[in-house]
Amino acid sequence: MREIYTAGPDISVLPSILPIPDLGDQPVNGFLLRGAEPLLVDTGMPVDREGFIEALWSLIDPSELRWIAVTHDDRDHTGAVAALLDAAPQAKLITNGISLTRLTEEFAIPKERVVTANPGNRFKIADRELSFYRPPTFDSPGTLAVFDHADGTLFSSDSFGTVLQNYAQDISDIPEEEFFAGFDVLNRAIAPWTALVDVHKFQKSVRTLAKLRPARLLSGHGPTVEGERVDSLFRAMARIPELPAWLPGADLDLEAALDAHEASADAAAGTGEAA
Ligand SMILES: [Fe+2]
Ligand SMILES: [Fe+2]
Repeated sequence: MREIYTAGPDISVLPSILPIPDLGDQPVNGFLLRGAEPLLVDTGMPVDREGFIEALWSLIDPSELRWIAVTHDDRDHTGAVAALLDAAPQAKLITNGISLTRLTEEFAIPKERVVTANPGNRFKIADRELSFYRPPTFDSPGTLAVFDHADGTLFSSDSFGTVLQNYAQDISDIPEEEFFAGFDVLNRAIAPWTALVDVHKFQKSVRTLAKLRPARLLSGHGPTVEGERVDSLFRAMARIPELPAWLPGADLDLEAALDAHEASADAAAGTGEAA
């Protein structure tokens, strides 16, 4: 775990990094939101479980935590979820139904402690009102972005993340080129299908979030982004489908590769037809 820092009024970041060979360090963040009913967004990596729990309880008493939002079922967002539900008797889990099913492959999650949400839902928890969206890039079908109307913060899950040469807490501490080079890699690495999508439909999903005019954007895999800089991330995201799919060590023309694969499969089947 890295040192806890503040990302906005009543928002503490519980940060770690995942080193990615040849690329750099991917930030991995959980977020604690104070208020009448404190809410944790994501629960760190299994490798950090003990450190994450210790960091969280240095900020809040387990009896006070009321909500744990898990943006999706990937391990880097679910590391401490079961231990935290055990330790925090008042806490309820907010997640998507698909993520919940996948979580139960590994953890026993008491049904009566779960509230499921879909993109398009909006509900109040005490003094906060939360809206849920599907972010433009994602690597699990259950992924939820969470918009907090109380302070205009968009928690975007994996989406809008980056990989950095030098870890930083705020985007203003990093050269812009470095942030966006990592942004272009991470957002394609988690979603190579962006090379296949209808660009206009994809950009509509970006505009839906841009219209919220978030005061700050907090990715599970990025530094704090506030004010006008948020718009530069929406502009960069809108261009992602124009880039080739990314795989480790290669920028890949995915459509051409799939066509070639299909042609060779047809040839092997003796049809000789490449559709
Ligand atoms: Fe993920
Ligand atoms: Fe992730």
